[in-house]
Amino acid sequence: MSEERFSPGLAGVIAGETSIACVEQGKLLYRGYAIADLATTCTFEEVAYLLLNDELPSAKQLQGIKDKLAKYRPLRSEILDALRRTPKDTPMMDVLRSMVSYTGHFDPVKGEGEEADRERAIWLTSQIGAIIAARFRLMNGNEPIEPMDGLSHAAQILYQCHGEVPDPLAAELIDLTLVLYAEHDFNASTFTARVICSTMSDLTSAITGAIGALKGPLHGGANEAAMEMLCKFKSGDEAKAWITNALANKEKVMGFGHRVYKNGDHRADILEGKLRKLAHQLGEETWLDIYDAIRHPMVHEKHIFPNVDYPCGLTYYLLGLPLDLYTPLFVASRITGWSAHFLEQSIDNRIYRPLSIYVGHGERKVPPIDER
Ligand SMILES: CC(C)(COP(=O)(O)OP(=O)(O)OC[C@H]1O[C@@H](n2cnc3c(N)ncnc32)[C@H](O)[C@@H]1OP(=O)(O)O)[C@@H](O)C(=O)NCCC(=O)NCCS
Repeated sequence: MSEERFSPGLAGVIAGETSIACVEQGKLLYRGYAIADLATTCTFEEVAYLLLNDELPSAKQLQGIKDKLAKYRPLRSEILDALRRTPKDTPMMDVLRSMVSYTGHFDPVKGEGEEADRERAIWLTSQIGAIIAARFRLMNGNEPIEPMDGLSHAAQILYQCHGEVPDPLAAELIDLTLVLYAEHDFNASTFTARVICSTMSDLTSAITGAIGALKGPLHGGANEAAMEMLCKFKSGDEAKAWITNALANKEKVMGFGHRVYKNGDHRADILEGKLRKLAHQLGEETWLDIYDAIRHPMVHEKHIFPNVDYPCGLTYYLLGLPLDLYTPLFVASRITGWSAHFLEQSIDNRIYRPLSIYVGHGERKVPPIDER
C-alpha cells in the first residue's frame, strides 16, 4: 500500500457522499438551508423534521412530529428502575449511553426499513430528552415527573428537569442550541454511527456508539471542558494570565479549533451574539471578561477560532444548568443528525473497511513457553 494514501485522523479523506449537511469553510447548510436562516426562523422540531425528511414541514407535518414526540416521551418503569439503580457517581454521558442501549430492548416501533427507522429516530429523540431529565431529578433527590402537554422539546427538557415551566428566554436559548447542534456531516460521532450502520446493524446500536464517540473532550465533551476551564478564573485578568502561559506551553484550549473551519464557526458566531445579550441582561459582565480574555489571544494571536462549544458552555452555565448536562444536551439534538445519516447510509450502503499500514514486528516464530 502506498504511503501517500495515509492520512492520520482521516484528515482530507472523503469517506462518502451526503445530502444532509454541507460543511465548508464559509458555509453550513442543513438540507440546503443556511444555519443562520434556520437559527432565526425555525424551532428544533422543524429542523428535526427537515433532517429526517429532506424538506421543512408544513404546519400539519410539524404538528405530526410534535404529536409523535409527545407520544414517545413517557419513560417505561424498567428505564426508571435502571436509572435508580445506576451508581450516583456515574457521569451523565455514561448513563445516557447505557440507557439508550437499554431502551432499545423496549423498541415500540415495529418493522424494519426506512419508514420504521424514521419513526424510531423520533422515539429515541423523545426518550433521550426524558432520560436526561429523569436522571437529573434523581441525582437531585427528586422523583422524575411526567411531561406537560404543549411544551416545545427544549422547554419540555427544562420542565422535566426543574418541575416548573421554564422562563421563555431559557427555553428559546436551549432551542437555539439544539438547532445549532443538530447536524454537522461526517464528524467523529456521525461517522461512528455510519460505520455501525454500514454493517447492517440497528439504529439503537448506531446511536449508542455515537454517544460514546461524542462524549470525548475533543468532540462534544468540549462544551463541558470549556466551561470547566472558565470556572477556574474569578476575573478576566486571571484568565489572561492563564492563557498566556497555556499558549506558551502549547496547551490545547477547549472550545477552540475545528478540523474544517479554519476561519471561524458560524454556529459560534450565532450563539455568541445571544450569549452576550444574556450576560448583560443578567449583569454577568465578569463572565464575559473571562470569556473574552481567553478568546482574544486565541483569535488574534493564534488565529484559532471558537467553535460552537465555547459559547455554548457559558450559555448553559448562565442559564443555571450543571456542567454534566451540557454534552447530554448535545446528544438530545445530534440524535436527529445521526439518525438522518443512518437513513442515508442504509439506502446506499457499502461496509466501511479502511486499510492500515502495518508497523509491528516482522514475521517471527512462536518460541516454546520456557524460552519467552
Ligand atoms: C477540534 C480539534 C480536535 C481539531 O483537531 P485537528 O483538525 O486535528 O486540528 P490540528 O490539531 O491539526 O490543529 C492545527 C494546529 O492548531 C493547534 N490547535 C488546534 N486546536 C487548538 C486548541 N483548541 N488549542 C490550542 N491549539 C490548538 C494544534 O495544536 C495545531 O498546532 P501545530 O500545527 O503547532 O501542531 C482541535 O482543534 C481541538 O482539539 N480543539 C479543542 C477541543 C474542541 O473544542 N473540540 C470541539 C470541536 S467542535
